[in-house]
Amino acid sequence: MLNGKRVLLVISGGIAAYKSLELIRRLRERGAAVRCILTKGGAEFVTPLSVAALSEEKVFMELFSLTDESEMGHIRLSREADLVVVAPASASILARMAQGIADDLATTALLATDKPVLVVPAMNLMMWAHPATQANIATLERRGVARVGPGSGDLACGEVGAGRMAEPMEILAAIEEHFIERTSLTGLRALVTSGPTHEPIDPVRFIANRSSGRQGHAIAAALARRGADTLLVSGPSAEPDPAGVEVRRIETAEEMLAACRGALPVDVAVCAAAVGDWRVATPAGQKLKKDGGAPPQLTLTANPDILASLAEAGNQRPRLVVGFAAETENVIENATAKRAAKGCDWILANDVSPGTGTFGGGENTVHLVSAGGVESWPTQAKQAVADRLAERIARHLIAAQPAAAS
Ligand code: C5P
Repeated sequence: MLNGKRVLLVISGGIAAYKSLELIRRLRERGAAVRCILTKGGAEFVTPLSVAALSEEKVFMELFSLTDESEMGHIRLSREADLVVVAPASASILARMAQGIADDLATTALLATDKPVLVVPAMNLMMWAHPATQANIATLERRGVARVGPGSGDLACGEVGAGRMAEPMEILAAIEEHFIERTSLTGLRALVTSGPTHEPIDPVRFIANRSSGRQGHAIAAALARRGADTLLVSGPSAEPDPAGVEVRRIETAEEMLAACRGALPVDVAVCAAAVGDWRVATPAGQKLKKDGGAPPQLTLTANPDILASLAEAGNQRPRLVVGFAAETENVIENATAKRAAKGCDWILANDVSPGTGTFGGGENTVHLVSAGGVESWPTQAKQAVADRLAERIARHLIAAQPAAAS
C-alpha cells in the first residue's frame, strides 16, 4: 500500500518518541522509505542508532553539519519526501512551526518543505489545553497541516487527560489515508452544513444540542481536498475552519436555511448539521427575569427542514443531496424511512446511542442508505468517514456528469 512512498519523519522531544520507532517499522513493512530527522530533544529519548537501524538510513540531526549538508542539504531533505510526519510533535515544535521559526534542522526542513505535513501531538494535558498551543494548532490546521490525536488517557507525567500521542497503527492509518488515490471534484460546487444551531430564548439564553461539528467540518475538508469549490455553513462549533473551505457561520436554523438557499446552485449538498427541530416562537427582546413568579412558558414552533428544502429545490436541486440520520435504535429501518421522507438521495445513518461516543467523539460507525441498498462501513475516524464519503460523492458525480458539448 505504501510501496515506494517516501516519508520524512521528524522525531521531536518527548517520552512518546519510543512509539515512533514502532511507526518506522510498520512503515518499512508496508514498503515506505523512511528518512528521519531526530531533534536534540528527541535524541534524549531514542538513540540515533535505533532510528538508523530501523529506518535503514542515515539519521539527520545537525543543521550546521558539514558532512550532512554535503551529502544531503536540508532543502533536498525537505523536498525529497512525499509526506512529512512530525511524531511526536512537542508543544515547542508546534509553536515554532506556527511562527515560522527555523532554529534547528527539523524546523528548517519544515519551513522549507513544499510537501504535505502531518503532525502527531504528544504532551502534558495542560500544555495541550493551553490557549497558546490551541492557537498554534489551529493556525497550522488552517494552513493545511493534518493532525492525528492526541488521545486521552494516562500520561507519562502521571496525570490523566488529553495529550497522549496517537498509537503507531492510528498514525499509520492516517498516513495510508493520505496516499489514497482521490477522484477530482475540480470545477464542481459543494455545500455542507455542520454543527448545532442555537435558537434564542432571549438575548442571553438559547436552545442548543451536543453536536460538535467534527463530522461536517471533516466532510467539507475532504471535498475541498478533491478540488470542489466548497461552502461550509456552520452553527456555533469549536472546530477550526477547514483549509481551502469558505465558511459561513450562522446561529439559527432559519439563518442556516437562508445561507444554504443563497448558495444554490451547487452540485452536491451534504447536510451534517444537527439542526434544532424547534425554536422559541417569539424570543424575548430583553433578558427574562425570575421576579419570584412562575417560570416562563416557552412556546415552540417547528424549524424549517433544510435537507428537505434542498431536496425539493426544483431546478435548483443539487444533483446529489446527502443527509444524516442519528439514530439510537432500528438504525437502518429508520434511516431508510428518513431518506424517503426527506426526498434526499443518500442517508448516512449513524448509531448515536449512549456509549457509542459518536457525539463529540473522534469515531463514527455509519451505514450508507441509497436507492441501491445499504452499505455498512467499519467504525473509523470521522476524517476517514469524511474521506470515504467524499470519494463516493466524487465518483458518483463524475459518473453522472453530463457529456461535455463538443
Ligand atoms: O429529521 P432529522 O433531524 O433526524 O434528520 C436529520 C437530517 O436532516 C440531517 O441530515 C440534518 O442535517 C437534516 N436536517 C435539516 N434541517 C432540519 C432538521 C434536520 O437539514 N431542520
